[in-house]
Amino acid sequence: MTRKKIILSVNGVRNEIEVEAKETLLETLRNRLDLTGAKLGCDQQVCGSCTVLMNDLPVSSCSVLAMDADGCEILTVEGLGAGGALHPIQQAFIEHGAFQCAYCTPGLILAVKYLLSRFPRPTEPQLRHYLAGNICRCGCHVEILQAVRSLARRAQENQL
Ligand code: FES
Ligand code: FES
Repeated sequence: MTRKKIILSVNGVRNEIEVEAKETLLETLRNRLDLTGAKLGCDQQVCGSCTVLMNDLPVSSCSVLAMDADGCEILTVEGLGAGGALHPIQQAFIEHGAFQCAYCTPGLILAVKYLLSRFPRPTEPQLRHYLAGNICRCGCHVEILQAVRSLARRAQENQL
């Protein structure tokens, strides 16, 4: 069997898609659904630029076969925000200048979303541990951490 029809719910939209046996989830999102937020970096589950949430858990979509995502709920950066407004994480990244080329940003934002869903007020070790799999080649890690700390502070003040 080289092709198979799968059901993929992406950002709340149900899709029936025929995928190749070796096709990755990242390829399906980018090439079949035109969702180009998640990026191909290392292609080896190391850099995190392809991070999306699959059933609420972060995965490297470069290393997940599309067939294995059959029936799953996927969230990509395009699914954040509502009514044209940015998601608070996106807003915090802008306020803190937490990117330069932004290649890593979509994956990082999903990783931050997962981190804050588990720990709304993460400790410094939690923050560093959960974002360790997302590498920024532009070296914006200081600003990225500042952005996430600001979200944690807002959570503490019940503004999120
Ligand atoms: S491209 Fe998937 S982890 Fe680097
Ligand atoms: S902003 Fe360029 S790789 Fe992170």
